[in-house]
Amino acid sequence: MEFSELIKKRRSCRAFQNTPVTEEQLQSIAKAGQWAPSPLNEQPFQFIAVTDPGVKAQIQKISIEAKQTVINKNGPAWVEKYPMNFIGDCPLILVVIYDADKGGLGSYFEQPHGALQSASACIQNMMLQAKDLGLDSLWFTFFNPSALKSILDIPEELDIAGAIMVGTPAMNAKAPKRRPPMVHRDRFNAEAH
Ligand SMILES: Cc1cc2nc3c(=O)[nH]c(=O)nc-3n(C[C@H](O)[C@H](O)[C@H](O)COP(=O)(O)O)c2cc1C
Repeated sequence: MEFSELIKKRRSCRAFQNTPVTEEQLQSIAKAGQWAPSPLNEQPFQFIAVTDPGVKAQIQKISIEAKQTVINKNGPAWVEKYPMNFIGDCPLILVVIYDADKGGLGSYFEQPHGALQSASACIQNMMLQAKDLGLDSLWFTFFNPSALKSILDIPEELDIAGAIMVGTPAMNAKAPKRRPPMVHRDRFNAEAH
């Protein structure tokens, strides 16, 4: 697919077919992630590829619990309708973890998020690669990170940037509208838009 079309066609998917993601597709997506920029080229991210139905069921369970927490705290009404069953159905959940201590020199001058920024670039690369392979994806964060760390035995010192659902879509998601880009010239101009 042509690159600018690929960017626009990538869509968050919340319903998947049960067709497995092949090992070749998984490796191709992981390699695309690995080519993300990172502070001092430290490549602070690693991936956990979850395909085991029992583990997926546990992730679905903690997501339902997170949803209930939002409902109990009087969160937005739409949350009640947010479906969670697609998690168990999703053929591949790629959990992207990162080492916050590998953020380059930014921590010396009030930029402490270098590793998370890099993991985020990594996720975008992976989602675009998945799209190019004919797969859809979702950057999913609707869970308590401590609960997911415990399910996946993630060491205390590593953090989670997202659980990326990947698979063949079972829905045709409409593109949420984008506003025109806010581009300021030379310096910030509050009246420009
Ligand atoms: C950091 C981050 C976290 C997100 N977490 C969730 C999530 O937990 N559940 C979900 O359904 N979508 C999640 N999304 C997806 C956004 O809702 C989605 O990207 C946005 O609505 C635009 O839609 P599009 O991706 O189809 O263009 C997340 C996106 C980002 C960047």
